[in-house]
Amino acid sequence: MDRIRISGGRPLVGSIPVSGAKNAALPLMAASLLTDGTLTLANLPHLVDITTMANLLAQHGVAIHMNGDGPGGNLGRVLSLCAADVGSTTAPYDIVRKMRASVLVLGPLVARFGRARVSLPGGCAIGTRPVDLHLKGLAQLGATIELDGGYIDARAERRLRGARIVFPFVSVGATENLMMAAALAEGETVLENAAREPEVADLARCLVAMGAEIEGIGTNRLTVRGGERLTGADFAVVPDRIEAGTYAVATAVTGGEVELVGVRMDLIEAVADVLRQAGIAVDETAAGVRVKAPAGRARGVDVMTEPYPGFPTDMQAQVMVLMATAEGAAMITETIFENRFMHVPELNRMGANINVHGGSAIVRGVDHLSGAQVMATDLRASVSLVLAGLSARGETLINRVYHLDRGYERLEEKLAACGAAIERIEG
Ligand code: EPZ
Repeated sequence: MDRIRISGGRPLVGSIPVSGAKNAALPLMAASLLTDGTLTLANLPHLVDITTMANLLAQHGVAIHMNGDGPGGNLGRVLSLCAADVGSTTAPYDIVRKMRASVLVLGPLVARFGRARVSLPGGCAIGTRPVDLHLKGLAQLGATIELDGGYIDARAERRLRGARIVFPFVSVGATENLMMAAALAEGETVLENAAREPEVADLARCLVAMGAEIEGIGTNRLTVRGGERLTGADFAVVPDRIEAGTYAVATAVTGGEVELVGVRMDLIEAVADVLRQAGIAVDETAAGVRVKAPAGRARGVDVMTEPYPGFPTDMQAQVMVLMATAEGAAMITETIFENRFMHVPELNRMGANINVHGGSAIVRGVDHLSGAQVMATDLRASVSLVLAGLSARGETLINRVYHLDRGYERLEEKLAACGAAIERIEG
C-alpha cells in the first residue's frame, strides 16, 4: 500500500488548479442511465471513485468513451456515456461495497426500466449511513421495495408517479436519487427539505439540460415535472468546493499564500467565513480565490457542521487541523455524521490537544505539531493528516493513502508545485 512522506514547515506559495467536484460527478454519471441519448460530462476529475462509477455503469451496459483532456486544456477528463443498451439492472455487492455512491443508480434504473437490484451499501468509517430515505421516497413514487440477501430489490409494475416527499432531515444522496427518479415519473413531484448542496444544483441543471422540468434549483423545495423520456446533453461539472477548501486550509496552516484557480467564492462562503474569523485573508480574484495566512498564528474559531449553505461536514477534519495550532481554543461540533472524529487520535499523536465529547471536540491550540507516522481511516480524515504533516515540524509518514486517491486528484503534485516537501512511496 502506498504511503506519503511529508517534511513539514514549508509555506505553500503559488497557485493550485481546482478540479471538478467528485460529489457532483458521481450523480451526474448515474444520470446517464435516464436516457438512451449520449450524456457528455466535462471537467471530470481523475479519481478512483470516478473510475469505480464508470465500471459500475459499464457492467450495466452503459457505453463509456473518454475524450481526453477537458475544454480549455484543463486536466479534467471528458467522458461520454450512453445507456442505449442497458443489459443488467443489478449493482453488485463487490462494486457497491467499494463506493456507497453506487446507490445513486437505484433511482434512475427503477424510473427508466421499472426494476433495480442494488446491493445495500454497508456503513463506512464515518457512520452507519442508511439509505432509508431513498427507499421510502421511491416507494412514495410507486416502486415496490424489498430487501433480500443484502440487496435492495426495487420494482415498478407501471411508470413511477409523482408525489410530495418531505425529508425529515436533509440528505444529499436521497435528494439526488429521488430527483432523478422523479424526472421520468408521471406528473409532478415535490421534494420538501431537499438538500441545497451545489452538487445537487449541478445535477438539477444537468437534468434540465436533458429535458427535465425542475423548479426551485438551489432551494430546499424542488418541484420536478417528469417527462416520458430525457435526451442526452453536454455538461461541465462544478468545481470541487471541498478540494478548494482543503487547499485553503493547507495554505493557512503553512503560513502561505495560494491562488485557488477555477473555484468560485459562492461555493466556499461558509469556509471562507470561518477562515476570515480565524485571521486568514480570503479574496476573490479574476481566476478564483486567493488565500493568505496571517503573519502570526490563526485565531481559534468555533465551528458547527450543517447542511449547505452551512459549514460542510466534509471540511470538518481539515479545519480542525487549523484550530490545532491556533491561538486559544475552538469547539468543533459535527452534526451530520455520528462518527467523524477518527482523525482526532492521530492528530493528538502529532502533538495536538483535542478532546472529544460526543458530537463535539474541544481543540486547544498548541504552538506546533510534530511529525509522526500516522494512519488514515477515511477520505477527509486522510487529508487532514496531510495538512497536519505540512504544518508539523519534522517528518510525517501517512499510511493507507488509497483513501486520498478516492477524492483528491494529483494531491502531491498540486502541493509540491507550491513548495511542499511531499512524496508518494509506492509499496
Ligand atoms: C454525501 O453523502 C456526500 N457524498 C458526502 O461526502 C457528504 O459528507 C454528505 O453528502 C453530506 O454532505 C457524495 O455526495 C458522494 P447524506 P450522502 O445522505 O448523500 C443520514 C465525502 O467525503 N441518512 O446527506 O451519503 C446519513 O447517515 C463524502 O466526499 C439517513 O439516515 O450523505 C448522514 O448521517 C463523505 N438516511 C446524514 O443523513 C438516508 O436515507 C446525511 O447524509 C440518507 C442519509
